[in-house]
Amino acid sequence: MMKERIQELLAQVNEMQAQSADELEALRIKYLSKKGEITSLFSEFRNVAADEKKDLGQQLNMLKNTAQQKIEELRAQFEAAKELQDKQDLTRTPDPVVLGSRHPLSLIREEIIDIFSRIGFTVEEGPEVEDDKHVFGMLNFAPEHPARDMQDTFFIEKQEGVQSPDDILLRTHTSSVQTRVMTTQKPPIRVLCPGRVYRNEAISARAHCFFHQVEGLYIDKNVSFADLRQTLLYFAKEMFGPDTKIRLRPSYFPFTEPSAEMDISCNICGGVGCSFCKGTGWVEILGCGMVDPNVLESCGIDSKEYTGYAFGLGVERITNLKYRVKDLRLFSENDVRFLSQFESC
Ligand code: DAH
Repeated sequence: MMKERIQELLAQVNEMQAQSADELEALRIKYLSKKGEITSLFSEFRNVAADEKKDLGQQLNMLKNTAQQKIEELRAQFEAAKELQDKQDLTRTPDPVVLGSRHPLSLIREEIIDIFSRIGFTVEEGPEVEDDKHVFGMLNFAPEHPARDMQDTFFIEKQEGVQSPDDILLRTHTSSVQTRVMTTQKPPIRVLCPGRVYRNEAISARAHCFFHQVEGLYIDKNVSFADLRQTLLYFAKEMFGPDTKIRLRPSYFPFTEPSAEMDISCNICGGVGCSFCKGTGWVEILGCGMVDPNVLESCGIDSKEYTGYAFGLGVERITNLKYRVKDLRLFSENDVRFLSQFESC
């Protein structure tokens, strides 16, 4: 009788499973507590015939040891799982999320906008697909001006043979936004117009068929060239550091009179001369001038009452100076090895 009972309990013990610490404790109580099934067999053992005692005693001990071992094993499993759970920091962020980086041209465009917005400029944008009058005509370009040539401009709709104010083209400069702003807003006007422009150029390290400009325009009573110069000096120092110097060289643009090009002291060599500034110590960064009275009039602004200045700068050029990017093509190739070198916010 006892022999069978031992076998039966041994089979049960070997099959023991517990899903929780409570279930495990219940098993311990069932088999090994004072009134447990294995413990009671030990009480019955007293009544076993003497010649069976040795054999049954061994089996009974084996059953008890097996049960104890099995319960210990299950307990160790629970404890390991609990320890793992205690060590988990549920407030931790998951595996690092790889942030993309901002495009260097966007970083510089935002920096330019930020600098000018501190002195009251607001941002205006205009269409990239424009008509001839906003890109050229109202900006005082003569009908035969070479910039209107197909070699420089991408036309979308062009009248055969003649040049028409309604020809549709990709804007070649952001000065077109000036004409849109001046025809829709009343002075005082103080705007910054960032955007992409297109020119029919062969792509190389130094030229591309599209690039980016930021146009500035200020129209009010009594705006002078001195105001223009001071604003540009402020910009150059904010952008390239307080030791930066500027110089204005006389130039020509159809839409400004007088016109100038502005150089800054080369921030790569500090003005002593290097390959970037071709040994001159100066690099050109923008064109500027006093808005030509013809332009004001073509946009419906009284040129006797108002004057203004304008400037246009190349974002790629400034980015090259800041980050020393030697090849313009890198800006549009989307190579992550290049792009990931810039800040992410
Ligand atoms: N639109 C000129 C260009 O693309 C840049 C420029 C020069 C803009 C003089 C201006 C300016 O507003 O006054 O080369």
